[in-house]
Amino acid sequence: MIKQSNTPAYVTIEPRNRHHEISDALSTDWLDNHAFKTAWFNSMSITFPLGEKFFVDSVRHFAGQIEDPKLQEEIKGFCGQEGFHRREHDLYNKTLCYLRGYDLDYLEGRLAKNIAMSKAHYSPIQHLAFTAALEHITAIMGESALADNDPMMNEADPAMKALWDWHAAEEMEHKAVAFDVYRAVGGTEKMRKRALRQATFFLIVDVIVGITHMLRKDKKIWDLRLWGQGWKFLLFKGGILRRLWPAYKAYFQDDFHPWQRDTKHLLNNWKETQLIPTS
Ligand SMILES: [Fe+2]
Ligand SMILES: [Fe+2]
Repeated sequence: MIKQSNTPAYVTIEPRNRHHEISDALSTDWLDNHAFKTAWFNSMSITFPLGEKFFVDSVRHFAGQIEDPKLQEEIKGFCGQEGFHRREHDLYNKTLCYLRGYDLDYLEGRLAKNIAMSKAHYSPIQHLAFTAALEHITAIMGESALADNDPMMNEADPAMKALWDWHAAEEMEHKAVAFDVYRAVGGTEKMRKRALRQATFFLIVDVIVGITHMLRKDKKIWDLRLWGQGWKFLLFKGGILRRLWPAYKAYFQDDFHPWQRDTKHLLNNWKETQLIPTS
């Protein structure tokens, strides 16, 4: 039998059909009572429904070429998890924009155009390379969110923390699926690495545009102190992007595989917190 999956045997990619009641929290600055930090995560959320559909489509395109039954099962788990994430973030985004007066069509429009451009100009294997790259980013962000020494989400509204932790844990469970499919169908190392650079650029621009729109609607766009605190939150010592850097750049190693970062203990810790249902 051909082995194409490199997800460890102790990991199960289990779609958890969760609903999180977050509408009260979404009308507030739910992370640390801070407009920029809240907008960062809200803007990330805007990218998920369209982005995760693109990921699922990109992986499914190649599913028929996968011979390893373990990887086939993991593809099903991956599609199931992303399907529930899309549903919850779609509701999140609609509720957020309704409550706070943000323009969802504008916010999603940029990403829709980028995806349409990608479909028109890039091949299916390149779509898969973008997917593997963005799955690397979501996995290391999830790892950071669930890390033992990360106090950030402890400052969040509990319902919001539950949603983001659920998403983070499942991103870690399926972090190698698109990657293993990419390798199995012969994706090159050069394309894989280039895709991460391109995907990072588009994601960051999209999220910053989203934050700018949200802070403008919140009438905080000219609050320079807030922006200063925001850049510190992202980039200074202990900032979330800075903490991600070592894990991010590991993707550029030739022998890289997502499970070289063993996140078993973080998944186990999260599972222990799930003994009480969140909804
Ligand atoms: Fe997801
Ligand atoms: Fe994912």
